Amino acid sequence: MIRFMKLARATAALTTPLTAEDFLALFNPVYSSRQLRGIVTRVAHETEDSATIYFRPGHGWHAHQAGQWARIGVELDGVRQWRSYSLSNAAGHDPAITVKDAGSVSHVLVRDTKPGDVLFLAPPQGDFVLPEHPRSLLMLTAGSGITPVMSMIRTLVPRRPDADVVLINSNSTPEKSLFREELDELADQFPNLTVRHWFTSARGRLQFTAQTIADLCPDWRSRAAYACGPEGFLNDAEDLWQQEAAVEQARTVPNVTAGAEAQAATGTLTIERFSTDLTAGAGHDGGLVTFEQSDREVQADGDTPLLDIGEDAGVLMPSGCRMGICHSCLIPLRAGQVRDLRTGELHNTPGQLIQTCVSAAAGPVNLDL
Ligand SMILES: Cc1cc2nc3c(=O)[nH]c(=O)nc-3n(C[C@H](O)[C@H](O)[C@H](O)COP(=O)(O)OP(=O)(O)OC[C@H]3O[C@@H](n4cnc5c(N)ncnc54)[C@H](O)[C@@H]3O)c2cc1C
Ligand code: FES
Repeated sequence: MIRFMKLARATAALTTPLTAEDFLALFNPVYSSRQLRGIVTRVAHETEDSATIYFRPGHGWHAHQAGQWARIGVELDGVRQWRSYSLSNAAGHDPAITVKDAGSVSHVLVRDTKPGDVLFLAPPQGDFVLPEHPRSLLMLTAGSGITPVMSMIRTLVPRRPDADVVLINSNSTPEKSLFREELDELADQFPNLTVRHWFTSARGRLQFTAQTIADLCPDWRSRAAYACGPEGFLNDAEDLWQQEAAVEQARTVPNVTAGAEAQAATGTLTIERFSTDLTAGAGHDGGLVTFEQSDREVQADGDTPLLDIGEDAGVLMPSGCRMGICHSCLIPLRAGQVRDLRTGELHNTPGQLIQTCVSAAAGPVNLDL
């Protein structure tokens, strides 16, 4: 970095009207003192609508832990759009993301990305990571929800003979099942991994009942569980774990340490969500949204996140996960009232920071942007 800074100063005098930054980027596309970048090294097509993009990050990146995710930015029609993607490669390896073509940004990533392209990046984050102390694990995944768990399996299974991992992986068909062959090969090679595929085209939706899960993994209650997949899948898993915890608690109620025992007996369930339910705000009235610094006014309904309202109006909106977890979209509320679309809660304190990705207008709103 110091080497680059000295070079940047030396070249500044020689490169007008190109800045030293532009000049250095010509030689090293991942160089930027302002914005972390990565250069795409390989693209592997996984299924008909998904691809894994390997990249070499520039200065400012730090090694990821298995299960973490990173914000990835791409330019669409001249506007930089950010989305979050789990890092699917093993910890200690160059990072990679595995993306399913599901909308505007993922479409470009899956269909158009090629080696040599530059991605805008933010460093890895997230606490959907392996437990600190070894435990037997149950992984529950569906669709692209396999990506963070794949990183965990790739990290743990070949290196730790004492690991004990059962994966229940749900997909519509074998052809749509990400990493199916690699998972089967790992399970053949390493006795510490058991893979249970569930194909909904043949067996219907995976029912989260104690019996169904026990049929696939008899000792599921004693395992630390991790789940990642669509909303309905995760809600069903959460319901089952809550029911089991309630049953355990009822069984041990006379005991003073009932709470602790219930927790220990049921095991933990750690969930990673790729999207969030924003229906709590449905059907409410919106209002006139004023983006003060950008000098834009838009009439907004009460259900659309202010992030989308601003982007559609051409306002440069900060964003990241777009689902209320990363806080990259915080903007001060100047005046007016917004509704949190997850909870229905109203916020109207001037100066309060609001998450535009999960907040909608609830009357006139002035934003400091
Ligand atoms: C922590 C985290 C990790 C993630 N990891 C991964 C990962 O590993 N792999 C992965 O593929 N994704 C992952 N995601 C999801 C990812 O961030 C994006 O949300 C996803 O790629 C869709 O973004 P997009 O821009 O392509 O879709 P958008 O254009 O933003 O669309 C969002 C959704 O709306 C739907 N939609 C878009 N346009 C329309 C329309 N006109 N009518 C109806 N519906 C529409 C799309 O189907 C899509 O589901 C992760 C998300 C989070 C928060
Ligand atoms: S964009 Fe991540 S919290 Fe809003």
